[in-house]
Amino acid sequence: MEKIIILDFGSQYTHLIARRIRELKVYSEILPFNVSINKIKSGDVKGIILSGGPDSVYQPNAPKPSKKVEEWILAGKIPVLGICYGFQLLAHMLGGNVEKGIRGEYGRAEIEVLEENDLFKGLPQKQVVWMSHGDIVAELPPKALALAKSKDGLVAAFKLGKLYGVQFHPEVKHTVCGREILRNFLFEVCKCEGLWDIGDIVNRVVEDIRKEASSGNVLMAVSGGVDSTTSACLIKMALGVDRIYLVVIDTGFLRENEAEKAVRLYEKLGFKHIFLVDVKEKFISRLKGVVDPEEKRRLISQLYFEVLDEKADELAKEYGEFKYLGQGTIYPDRVESGATGRATARIKSHHNVVYTHLSKLVKLEPLKDLYKDEVRKIAELIGVPKEVIFKHPFPGPGLAIRIIGEVTEEKLKILRKVDKIVEEELRKSGIYKMLWQAFPVLLPIKTVGVMGDERTYRYAIALRAVISEDAMTAEFAKLPWNLLERLSSRIVNEIKNVNRVLYDITNKPPATIEYE
Ligand code: XMP
Repeated sequence: MEKIIILDFGSQYTHLIARRIRELKVYSEILPFNVSINKIKSGDVKGIILSGGPDSVYQPNAPKPSKKVEEWILAGKIPVLGICYGFQLLAHMLGGNVEKGIRGEYGRAEIEVLEENDLFKGLPQKQVVWMSHGDIVAELPPKALALAKSKDGLVAAFKLGKLYGVQFHPEVKHTVCGREILRNFLFEVCKCEGLWDIGDIVNRVVEDIRKEASSGNVLMAVSGGVDSTTSACLIKMALGVDRIYLVVIDTGFLRENEAEKAVRLYEKLGFKHIFLVDVKEKFISRLKGVVDPEEKRRLISQLYFEVLDEKADELAKEYGEFKYLGQGTIYPDRVESGATGRATARIKSHHNVVYTHLSKLVKLEPLKDLYKDEVRKIAELIGVPKEVIFKHPFPGPGLAIRIIGEVTEEKLKILRKVDKIVEEELRKSGIYKMLWQAFPVLLPIKTVGVMGDERTYRYAIALRAVISEDAMTAEFAKLPWNLLERLSSRIVNEIKNVNRVLYDITNKPPATIEYE
């Protein structure tokens, strides 16, 4: 299958390049910048993209491709597109000169195309692009041709044989012709066919699992969410129902009746081995006194895998040792946990990624390179029920990271009830399906209120509702005032321990979606 490799030099936009290319029906894969030549060359690679990144190529430890990959690129046989840092790196590797500019270019900028050529084929001579750089290509590599310049006369794009570089970010929507430039690179330069579609992923993933797991049983913790459910279904399609053992762990941090609902879902989907493990007591007692968000996440993750490990031992006695561990990890989980490429700073340890106890098992992660919307399309194709597909994502550590500070039984009870009201009202208004996520957060403060002439001193709830494409960035939802009023009034009237409701109006970045 034809594919484009993106070498990740640490830009916050790297994942967007992958998205845009997939939208153009070409499979793309992000690999660490220093990946080995063997790894890069596996499969039908049509071209390479060098991503942006925060470094300067002239610094001593600037990230560079591995030696063999660099030689392959410089040989000029494989098409390459360098973007921002990738553009500077390519110029530097080819003998050009990169320097710190007198002033950087950030945000919208205008470029002028100088040459009719493959990359800008059919596009206007003047274009608005998105720039974000401090360094410049002060001198082009020998024999390279400037394709475009910025208003200040700086090189904005160049070409040398099949090697292309652009100083701006074609993957960012503000670059007006960005999609067309990427399309030209794929189809004019790399000669891709563009036949990749979501159905192909299902076939490929199923085939891969079959190859990877020719014999032996799979253990998988599932939550009833779209990621773990779709993953489990793909594994079942590949290996058959007898080889997959599902474990639903009730940590006590789930929403109301979620564990039981999950068990019923898997029965309905035809799974044969389903085990519910109730460890509510264990989790809450181990989290006693813990307030630090990362410590909470670490403990929950550790405990989760301890429980799964114990269950695995117990099941192994009856059904034989497990060889594989199925997981519902998707691509953004890995990015945010710093598990891809040049690791954008680790922001939060995500549940799916950090674990220690079952490391002896081989991981099966059929969705690890996919975005949520792609997972949803696959889920639809393979018959996962609609209510699962369009359910809002729910984080592994659950309500524990939506209770700021120490988690207690009392707070869990409150939050579960509020959560139910929020979901009911959003569904009733028809707004639920327009949102990426919406949920209440229990704040660690009490505030003064007045009810029926009496002073109250109770918890404050923060409501969070966001719109997002893939959770990498998010915008707070502009919910109608009357809906917010209804929510606030129901919450305060129906939940005894709450007397105040706040609405969160922060985007991601700078905030994250979850509070911890
Ligand atoms: P943040 O808070 O990092 O969340 O903006 C991004 C998306 O990831 C979800 N999330 C998690 N999902 N395990 C998960 O499976 C986790 O530990 C976890 N933490 C956050 C979050 O709900 C949002 O959709």
